[in-house]
Amino acid sequence: MIASRDLLQLHQSWHQNIPALHSFAPGRINLLGEHVDYLGGHVLPAAIDKGISITFSPGGDRLSVVAADLNKKTEWTESQIRSGPAPASWQAYVWGALHESLAHGASFVPGQWTISSDLPTGAGLSSSAALEVAVIQLVMNLSGTHLSSKDMALMAQKVENLHVGTQCGIMDQFASIHGQEDSFMELDCSSLNYKLYKADHPGACWILINSMISHELGDNYNRIRHDLEVAEKTINGGPLIQCSLEQVTAASQQMSAAQTERATYAISEVCRIKEFIEALKTQNLEKAGKLLCSTHWGLSKQLKVSTPELDHLVRSSEDHPAWLGGRMMGGGFGGCTINLVTEDKLEDYLHHIRGKFAERFDIQPDVYPVKLSRGAHLRRLD
Ligand code: GLA
Repeated sequence: MIASRDLLQLHQSWHQNIPALHSFAPGRINLLGEHVDYLGGHVLPAAIDKGISITFSPGGDRLSVVAADLNKKTEWTESQIRSGPAPASWQAYVWGALHESLAHGASFVPGQWTISSDLPTGAGLSSSAALEVAVIQLVMNLSGTHLSSKDMALMAQKVENLHVGTQCGIMDQFASIHGQEDSFMELDCSSLNYKLYKADHPGACWILINSMISHELGDNYNRIRHDLEVAEKTINGGPLIQCSLEQVTAASQQMSAAQTERATYAISEVCRIKEFIEALKTQNLEKAGKLLCSTHWGLSKQLKVSTPELDHLVRSSEDHPAWLGGRMMGGGFGGCTINLVTEDKLEDYLHHIRGKFAERFDIQPDVYPVKLSRGAHLRRLD
């Protein structure tokens, strides 16, 4: 999280006044369970120590919103937020979250906002979910409107589905709100019940490596989801995640090859999650690492959401003794790999992977140690 002093200075430089409130919502990682949240499967996300900050100062008759990292500013009156038209690009997230909050009964509180982030952009760490959550949390607090944490996650997901146009599941928004320090969660995406587990693997750590390909979901993501939903209807055995691989094979004549492969991935991933949790609970990190790799190649070859850069990061890790396993993380088409690495040879591994990546793509990948942290929260700044 950006230091309070820097947030104060930034706000002051844009609005010439001192902010009173700070709304923070973190980005997320996901250990396993990719592209199964919107099918009602289980996923294993966690909130991290980096995210989106919005500082607020009251005053005036409208809302003046600065996206500091983009060097952009916009202004909305209450009626523009209530009745549109909906803007595009970064404004769609903010406007959409404001619009949904007001539609839910929150009152309009004029003032000045400064949005800033310490999440690397395009790295697949869910900056969009964090932005939606940070806005809704702030608006609800300013207007004194109660919204349960679960409903807040659902509202943030609605913003993404309706106003941004990505038909994402609930994982990112839920994790950004419900994350706890040093813990990851097993979230059942159909009931939204969750269990927290301490991430405690002596001698090993989680490392993100950025493929430096900025990830964009949009149409690509919607197409994958569509294929899986077609498969679900075609197999007609109830929820896809409860179907067997035999049912997929039996229905394969009525589906495209891509739909069959994607359905095969989803069903295999559901089995892997159970095994993975067991492996982590019993400290069987070797097994956990192998399952991470199986997920990677499933995402790459069956779901087809990887890139040559992400595949290269996984493949060139395989022969390093410190690497227990890893995979591309998130929706795909760029972003980071998440890696389980033994701490004793971590530096050597990072040196190895940086060298291999630079040799092939002529660029050094950024590396981020993972720190699991608490979810979205507000702080008074005055
Ligand atoms: C994106 C979406 C999530 C989820 C992941 C893939 O992050 O926002 O809902 O589907 O992709 O697991």
